[in-house]
Amino acid sequence: MDKDIKILSIESSCDETAAAVTVNGREVLSNIIYSQIVFHEEYGGVVPEIASRKHIEKINQVIDRALKEAGSTLDDIDAIAVTYGPGLVGALLVGVSAAKAIAFAKNIPLVGVHHIEGHICANFIENRELEPPFICLVASGGHSHLVSVKDYGVYEIIGRTRDDAAGEAFDKVARAIGLGYPGGPKIDKAAREGDPDSIVFPRAKVEGSEYDFSFSGLKSAVLNYLNQAEMKGETVNTANVAASFQKAVVDVLVEHSINAVKMCGSKKFAIAGGVASNTALRTELERRCDMEGIEFYRPSPVYCTDNAAMIGTAGYYEFIKGARSGYDLNAVPALELGKR
Ligand code: KG4
Ligand code: ZN
Repeated sequence: MDKDIKILSIESSCDETAAAVTVNGREVLSNIIYSQIVFHEEYGGVVPEIASRKHIEKINQVIDRALKEAGSTLDDIDAIAVTYGPGLVGALLVGVSAAKAIAFAKNIPLVGVHHIEGHICANFIENRELEPPFICLVASGGHSHLVSVKDYGVYEIIGRTRDDAAGEAFDKVARAIGLGYPGGPKIDKAAREGDPDSIVFPRAKVEGSEYDFSFSGLKSAVLNYLNQAEMKGETVNTANVAASFQKAVVDVLVEHSINAVKMCGSKKFAIAGGVASNTALRTELERRCDMEGIEFYRPSPVYCTDNAAMIGTAGYYEFIKGARSGYDLNAVPALELGKR
C-alpha cells in the first residue's frame, strides 16, 4: 500500500470513553482514554445508565483531544473505526452514533469493529513483526476465549468460558473480600503481600472440552471459604485469599493456553484483554512459554484494558480488506467474534 492510512477510532463499549488516531494500524499517534471508574466505584460495578450518560458527556472532548494530540484534523482522516459490539448497548450506541455523525458530515468511510478483535489486535501495536497465525488468550471482564488467529480478521474460537469470564471472577471475588471495584488491579496488588499456596481453591475442568473455562465454581469456593471463616469467628487474611484465588485463575488460564498452543502446533502465543495486564499471569506465561520454546507476546497494560488504539488497529486490517459499514450500523451487544 503506497499511501498511509490514518484512522480515527472510537471505543465506548463499557466504562471507558476512548478515541485514538493510528497510522497503518500499528503506529499510535494518540490514544485518549477517559475512565469512568470513579462514578461506578460506589456501586461496586459498572452501572449501564451512568456509563451511557458519561459517554455522551465526554465523547466529543475525547475525540477532539485525540485529533489534537495526533496533530490531525478530520480532513486528513481516511476512515473512522468504531466498536459496535459486544458490550453495553447504551454505551456502544454513543460511540457508534458519534462515528456515524462524523463519517456522514465529512464523507469519511466507516468501519464497525468487534471489541474482542480490537483486544487481539492490540498485540500488533508494539510488536511490529507479529503476524498471524498465532494463538491468543483473550481474558477480559466479559470474555475468556482461546482464539486461533488464522489471518487478519480470521478467527476460530477453540475455547471459551461456560459461565463467568476471568475478569468477572476477579471483580466478584474482590467485592466479596472488600477490595471494591475494579477487582482485577486490586487483587493483583493485594496478592503481592499474600501466600498463593495458603488456601487450595479448585481448578475447574470442563468435562469433554479441554480448552473451555469455568470460573463460577472457583468464585463459589472463595465465598464458601469466607462464610465458613465468618461462622467460626476467624479473621480472614485478605492478601492470602487474593493470592490463592489469583493463582487458581492463573493456573487454569496458563494450562489451557499452553495445551492449546501445543495442540495447534503453533509457536506463537499472545494475550489480550484487561486480565492480560495481571502481573502473576504475565510472569507465569513468560516462564512457561520460555520453557516450551513458544514466542510470547503481550501488550503493555494500557493496551490490555479498554482503549481505542486497538480498535484503530483492528479497523485498519478490516479497512484494507474492503470492509465498510453503512449509516445503518447499529450497536450489537452480543456480537460474535468473526461475524460482521
Ligand atoms: O478488557 P477490559 O478493560 O474490559 C472488558 O472488555 O471487559 O477488562 C476489564 C476486566 C475487569 O474485569 C478487570 O477487573 C480486569 O479486566 N483486570 C484485571 C487487571 N486489570 C484489569 N484482572 C486481573 N489483574 C489485573 N491487573
Ligand atoms: Zn475490553
